[in-house]
Amino acid sequence: MIRKFIFGNPIETEALVDSQSIQGMSVEKPGQGIPHFAARLAGEESSWELALDMGERDIIYGLGENIRGINKRGWIYESNCTDDPVHTEGRRELYAAHNFFLVDGRERLGVFVDAPQKVTFDFGYSRRDRLVVTVDPGGFVLYILEGGSSRQIVREFRGIIGRSYIPPRWAFGYGQSRWGYMCEDDIRQVVREHRKKGVGLDSVYMDIDYMEDYKDFTVNQERFPDFPRFVQEMRDQKVHLVPIIDAGVKIQEGYPVYEEGVKEGYFCKKEDQTEFVGGVWPGRVHFPDMLNEKARAWFGDQYKFLLDQGIDGFWNDMNEPALFYGEDHLAEVFEKLEEYSGQELDIQSFFAVKDLVLGLAGRKEDYRTFYHEYRGQRVRHDRVHNLYGYYMTRAAGEAFDRLKPDKRILMFSRASYVGMHRYGGLWTGDNCSWWSHLLMNLQMLPGLNMCGFLYSGADLGGFGDDATEDLLLRWLELGIFVPLMRNHSAKGTRRQEFYGFDHAEDFRGIIGLRYGLLPYLYSEFMKAALTGDMMFLPLSFVYPEDPEAAGVEDQLMVGDGMMIAPVYRQNARGRYVYLPEDMKLYRMRGVDSLESQVLPAGHHYVRAELNEVLVFVRRGHVVPMSEGGCCVEDVDMSSLRLLHFVETEGVYELYYDDGERKDVRLEEGITRILVRADKTVETEGLLSPRCQLI
Ligand code: GLC
Repeated sequence: MIRKFIFGNPIETEALVDSQSIQGMSVEKPGQGIPHFAARLAGEESSWELALDMGERDIIYGLGENIRGINKRGWIYESNCTDDPVHTEGRRELYAAHNFFLVDGRERLGVFVDAPQKVTFDFGYSRRDRLVVTVDPGGFVLYILEGGSSRQIVREFRGIIGRSYIPPRWAFGYGQSRWGYMCEDDIRQVVREHRKKGVGLDSVYMDIDYMEDYKDFTVNQERFPDFPRFVQEMRDQKVHLVPIIDAGVKIQEGYPVYEEGVKEGYFCKKEDQTEFVGGVWPGRVHFPDMLNEKARAWFGDQYKFLLDQGIDGFWNDMNEPALFYGEDHLAEVFEKLEEYSGQELDIQSFFAVKDLVLGLAGRKEDYRTFYHEYRGQRVRHDRVHNLYGYYMTRAAGEAFDRLKPDKRILMFSRASYVGMHRYGGLWTGDNCSWWSHLLMNLQMLPGLNMCGFLYSGADLGGFGDDATEDLLLRWLELGIFVPLMRNHSAKGTRRQEFYGFDHAEDFRGIIGLRYGLLPYLYSEFMKAALTGDMMFLPLSFVYPEDPEAAGVEDQLMVGDGMMIAPVYRQNARGRYVYLPEDMKLYRMRGVDSLESQVLPAGHHYVRAELNEVLVFVRRGHVVPMSEGGCCVEDVDMSSLRLLHFVETEGVYELYYDDGERKDVRLEEGITRILVRADKTVETEGLLSPRCQLI
């Protein structure tokens, strides 16, 4: 059951597919009966506070992209899309605003706070037994979902927010990225090394250096003299190039995107009707008003420039929108610095100077100085801040529907809000090459799925800081299960392409497993997308009666039949794993090297060498694998190997399609694979694969 409460005069976010279809009740003042919560007005400008008392053992799941554990209890989080590259435990905000959570314990309820402004989630931070949601001034809509299991509540939520974005199948292959590939030869080298060593690869990402002066929708002619030909050269080697698009449009006379945007009034303006100027990679930029329907359509149409040259995938970046500085404030800072210049700095003035300079980036006050034209209204940016990345990605998604109606185009974004999940996936931004971030990657996955983000992933190996071979291997051992499997790193850090390290055979084995597991992973992804389910689940969602499962923070269920338990600690040669039921463990070094053993329910220490992946198959389940391949296109579905833990009977419903069409239906893609106790296999449906039990 879904209940809806309207506070004040909320701005329509279009997080829901059809928010009008749910009857709501207006809340005018505190004390009006909102189930579960005590609501009160707080603060001068009247922000709302919703408080709920928690039981000792209540768990909170959700909030999508966020730091800390699968269970979010015990910290305070903010939805306020922020470009902050150092995701330490003490942070409160990242790039996304995913305001859905689920409380499970004394009572079970799902909560969605549909508010495009800043929202704070105090989940037992101020008081251990209290959950308090504070919504900044401006209206909002509160949805409360009740009844059924945690998984059912999530499905109900996913039902109202609409179907998750589905990428082309090639986007499930391994992608290599690095900020710093400057020219054709840099990219050729990546492809050559992967192909030469037989390490899988489907895509190479192009960071801002492919552009001319970091101008969106341009290609540097010196470094990529014949871009369509180069795109084709890569396609001939079964590699897709995926360029980045940034939110800010460079201010430069003669640059058509800038000139047209100014002429049509498509950029965000200040109070005085002049365009807001910010500083990002290209230097001075204007921000397209992604919330304005016309501007959005115009910005979306720009992707045609690259689509026409053979590009079929993009990543949208810097769309919180990130601000290195706001120009007006920068002028103020320079003025103040002038006052200090020539002076001897005492400790106070030293810190004042430091704060002036460090306070330039992402300054909240700057977000209050420009406006959007949204649904016929002029809205100050901070009131809708969390929608910007969503609407940029929507601009692209809507344009792809117009320009390429029948073909899936890869799209994922850095900033996001619930609703964006219909138009693209996301990556989790600038993490670091830290072991703690490998664990954080795992812990984010169920929350992301709950909020509709299925096609998502972290920079494998870590973006900032220097990666080591063992960290990268271990990270890939998680990454092979994650839909967006991309190794990305920052300029200035240690190179982290596999060939920079010694053991190519280990990388070949691990990355090869991704292609081996593709039949299962693609199928589970598609089933989750088409039925509104999760692909990555906390153990407690599958074993709700098991109190120990509820406490597991470093293992996940992947789809119906599998559990994973990656190693995420330096120098560990194994780990403790909790099995809620008997499972069959497959220890794998590659598609052709695996051993299995049945383990009883309970706690185990399980060995896992640096080049070994642990896959646990549930009783009565079957997990289809392919023979592998060096790219998605080469994965052969006519011959499957079946991981299985079957004593009486096991069935797997394998989904498959052409990997390109947008209009897909679950029923049309199913092949039923039946494994009997006597080890015979029968298949029925779309495909007729040869099957071998392993
Ligand atoms: C941002 C992105 C990162 C990218 C860099 C340069 O930091 O998050 O992925 O490499 O910008 O474009």
